[in-house]
Amino acid sequence: MVAPSILSADFANLQTELGAIAEAGADWVHVDVMDGHFVPNLTIGVPVVASIKKVTKLPLDVHLMIENPEKYIEQFIKAGSDYLTIHVEATNDPLRVLKRIRELGAKAGISLRPGTPLSAITPFLSELDLVLVMTVEPGFGGQNFMKDQVSKISELKRLREEKKMNYLIEVDGGVNESTIGECHDADVLVAGNYVFKNDYTKAIRKLKES
Ligand code: DX5
Ligand code: ZN
Repeated sequence: MVAPSILSADFANLQTELGAIAEAGADWVHVDVMDGHFVPNLTIGVPVVASIKKVTKLPLDVHLMIENPEKYIEQFIKAGSDYLTIHVEATNDPLRVLKRIRELGAKAGISLRPGTPLSAITPFLSELDLVLVMTVEPGFGGQNFMKDQVSKISELKRLREEKKMNYLIEVDGGVNESTIGECHDADVLVAGNYVFKNDYTKAIRKLKES
């Protein structure tokens, strides 16, 4: 599946952009929420997620790059998040937050910064619907893919088979036609710049065919 990141879309025309990516074959909409603390950038919040929900049928894949996500998960789920992903580094009790996300009716995801080892999330794998592997430092679109993160993707796939678990593996950051070859063990590909700075249909098709 391909989840275009609207961080690279035209924010003045989000409804048109959402229609265009749906038409172009997108499976999910990836929504990057940044708080200026967990990452050095500010993006969008709950009201924008609620507005997006009204104008697209695609599932909303909301990536929270915010400190203390437990304060906001209920609002983001009420606003229409289908998948809600928190960062393992952003909270003292990730397991409690993940369980709460599921109780509130959304799918629970966890993500980790490139510098965080996979062992930081392995205790939670059975409680997860999604693992989001960052292949750039979170904060900005348009950065270069970090190849040294690819082993996390294959290890997550191996663990899923070994332990008969069900989470989806998603890769986020610098995914494009030259790096897609590294991502074959992932189920969901996030792409911001590659989709929105090219012909949407061609870019999404290229990622899927590769
Ligand atoms: C970065 C975000 C990404 C970003 C990806 O912190 O999590 O989702 O939008 O953008 P590209 O595909 O341009 O690297
Ligand atoms: Zn993201």
